[in-house]
Amino acid sequence: QELQMNLEQIEKGGYDHFMLKEIYEQPSVIKDTYRGRLHANEGLVQMAGVEDNLEKFLNAERIIIVACGTSWHAGLVAEYIFEEFARIPVEVEYASEFRYRNPIINRKDVVIAISQSGETADTMAAIKLAKENGAFVFGVCNVVGSSISRETHAGAYTHAGPEIGVASTKAFTTQITVLTMIALRLAKAKGTLSHSVFHSYLQELEIIPEKVREALETNDRAKEIAAVFKDAPNCLYLGRGYNFPVALEGALKLKEISYIHAEGYPAAEMKHGPIALIDEQMPVFVIAPKQGHYDKIVSNIQEIKSRSGKIIAVVTKGDTQVRELADYIIEIPETSDALSPLITTIPLQLLSYHIALMRGCNVDQPRNLAKSVTVE
Ligand code: G6P
Repeated sequence: QELQMNLEQIEKGGYDHFMLKEIYEQPSVIKDTYRGRLHANEGLVQMAGVEDNLEKFLNAERIIIVACGTSWHAGLVAEYIFEEFARIPVEVEYASEFRYRNPIINRKDVVIAISQSGETADTMAAIKLAKENGAFVFGVCNVVGSSISRETHAGAYTHAGPEIGVASTKAFTTQITVLTMIALRLAKAKGTLSHSVFHSYLQELEIIPEKVREALETNDRAKEIAAVFKDAPNCLYLGRGYNFPVALEGALKLKEISYIHAEGYPAAEMKHGPIALIDEQMPVFVIAPKQGHYDKIVSNIQEIKSRSGKIIAVVTKGDTQVRELADYIIEIPETSDALSPLITTIPLQLLSYHIALMRGCNVDQPRNLAKSVTVE
């Protein structure tokens, strides 16, 4: 028993929980994920699975992304990135819906299946269906040799290392890293990004781990804010554009491990429903980096404020406008709009962690959830 405990302590590498360790591993595992693939100085992105099937990607009339849970959120970020960078239409589907709704799948479709474990039953079934219909299926998995990595025609691994905490953290950011590299590779081949924009993304991605490290310095701030809101019964998360899926992921992290009811919404949709929920009891987490639709999100924040909602905003360092409106701000380093999910998601992971801990929840093994869902 004692030996078992010690072993677990060693595995946690000095952190209290696997989740916290995995959050802190993100700068290094993002680097592991792009190492040998991203060559910013040479202007190259090379991934064997993509190079070997480049024609299939370039001839794709559309990309269909299938996944579940957090991996589905990474797929949503990828939708925005693929369409912006490579101008290929993308659809993102819950694997569980896709497999049962008789979807239209063509030979010229490329299906990308995203799965940390590579064992999710619904995602596996969606892959089989896509294959039966003649699509080319590409896997983005973390676990090497997993069922999905074997069932797909080709793929690219994330190199996040073992993820033990049930709530996914480093798998999410490394999935986005892989998908961004694929989009960049296709953009280069298709000429859909200008030379200078392409190069600046490569350079920005290369220094992202440093910025993630800086974003981790928000930990103390996240803890302070967690102490204020730990007893909230409900929370709302809002973001726009590339950060809309981050809002969904922020809400998912909170509900998974703290059992607080949380919803993520695209900020502009607030007026079509969730705004009715806002009163002085409602904490609203707003992802409001300087890049992107900043002015729009500022007006969303004003709408929350005029209804006395409590505003916790994730902003770019040096921000002044949101600072004046928000009750609490968390400052993160500046990056390009498209890469910002890799940074904005960090303080939201930390917030959920601290809130769950303060509520006495089992952070690494939340009730009713499994790390990988291998049955329906
Ligand atoms: C479970 C896990 C989630 C995960 C989802 C998809 O619900 O608890 O953290 O995002 O499955 O898992 P996958 O391994 O396919 O990414």
